[in-house]
Amino acid sequence: MLNRIIIALGCALIVSCSKTETITPATPSIPTTPTTNTSTYNPLWVPPILNGTTFNLSLEKATKQLQAGAKTNTYGYNGNDFWGPTLIMNKGDNVTLNVTNKIDETTTVHWHGFHIPANMDGGPHQTIAPNVTWSPNFKIMNNAGTYWYHPHAHELTHKQLAYGAGGFIIIKDPQEAALNLPRTYGVDDIPLMLTSRRYSATNVIDIAGAYGDYQLTNGISSSQITLPKAFVRFRILNAEIERGYNLGFSDNRTFYVIGNDGGLVNAPIAVTRLPLMVGERAEIMVDLGGDAIDSAIDLKTFNSGQPLGFGGGEPATSGVFGSLLNNKDFNLLNIKVGAAGASAVKTIPGTLANNTYWTNSDVTNSRTITITGGQGGQAFTLDNKAYSHTTINQTVKLNAVEKWTIVNNNIFGHAFHIHDVQFKVISRSNGAVAPYESGWKDTVYVPIGTSVSVIAKFDDFSSPTDAFMYHCHFSNHEDEGMMGNFIVIP
Ligand code: C2O
Ligand code: CU
Ligand code: CU
Repeated sequence: MLNRIIIALGCALIVSCSKTETITPATPSIPTTPTTNTSTYNPLWVPPILNGTTFNLSLEKATKQLQAGAKTNTYGYNGNDFWGPTLIMNKGDNVTLNVTNKIDETTTVHWHGFHIPANMDGGPHQTIAPNVTWSPNFKIMNNAGTYWYHPHAHELTHKQLAYGAGGFIIIKDPQEAALNLPRTYGVDDIPLMLTSRRYSATNVIDIAGAYGDYQLTNGISSSQITLPKAFVRFRILNAEIERGYNLGFSDNRTFYVIGNDGGLVNAPIAVTRLPLMVGERAEIMVDLGGDAIDSAIDLKTFNSGQPLGFGGGEPATSGVFGSLLNNKDFNLLNIKVGAAGASAVKTIPGTLANNTYWTNSDVTNSRTITITGGQGGQAFTLDNKAYSHTTINQTVKLNAVEKWTIVNNNIFGHAFHIHDVQFKVISRSNGAVAPYESGWKDTVYVPIGTSVSVIAKFDDFSSPTDAFMYHCHFSNHEDEGMMGNFIVIP
């Protein structure tokens, strides 16, 4: 607490800077539109696709021109210089993933959001030593939706993620396929990985702090894409260290949330702002049908004036809890409107899914997790215990429907994630659960001074020895020990 306040006070005295850097644009000059203050853009990178039931992933060292000057050392999968391919999987398929570690430190790969056995989950227990291939296989049981893979080696997650290791997973299923939704990947169905980075004087990625100074969308700064004059779909992931996003468009237009972490919501939810915290995904649709060809709008984050405890709301422009982007509204993607193709989607379905969610009357057991630690610059913890590989913190009975209440009366907001399950956010101590988080979730924001209750069924997979994880998804917090093990036993 003290640290954050002292740094905040110190930085109030520093004149704020604004982001002006750009990297060699592919097109020499793109006219400035009235809604944006950047005059040159770089084409958005859309990750390549891997299909099928066998997926080969190889984590490799790379370099990328992220800033003017020296190239930056990065990590990427399968020869990409930041991030990795998008894996497309079908519900019901049995898949095998061959993950080879070609960097010189231990890694793991976790399939975030997946309902799979604990020993296939890729958490801190399933380490992959350098030059070793790990080959989990499992059946895809999740609903169509946007998931992701990322390293989860204890005390290395923050660094490896910051260097660029991660990727999207899109699950398809017949229910989603039956809807008239934009789903032409890279054309009207666009994955967006949002993050930011700080660089040293020699352009090394700086992982000492909680925030980056320069925004990256799919690893690209000042990114731009041309999209059809129709409804378009974005699958948005907050892959930050601590920063929250408060998404919206430069003209404040209404857009529609069609999915949460675990797939489609029952009906589109109209919003003009959408908070998205670390680890969370949202699928949105926005209508460009009324926009003139060649006009442009920006997808932005409106992060100025956020309450205390919102990641990136601190006023400091430098230091561990400061950044050039803190407490500002800034652009995430410039969207140029192009011609609608033959497959353009002109309407939005009124009904998307018929999920039946858990309610309080289904609950067979309840437990409370309290956010602790963090005093005087110490690490955050859960229930006053720093993470230990060998401690089982919670034991859940197979097929239990459990209510977990996460209590946060402590210093800062956090993004709480549970492996194995998709849960329903059932209540918040500070008011109603927002409609935009009404679907299946695996990660939930817990603002400072509040508690949140979620309900999940822990079915299908049990083991007396292999643990699942629950943790804060701020990668610096989880590396510092804000994480626990749970087992599911028959
Ligand atoms: Cu996205 Cu335990 O992780
Ligand atoms: Cu996870
Ligand atoms: Cu945290």
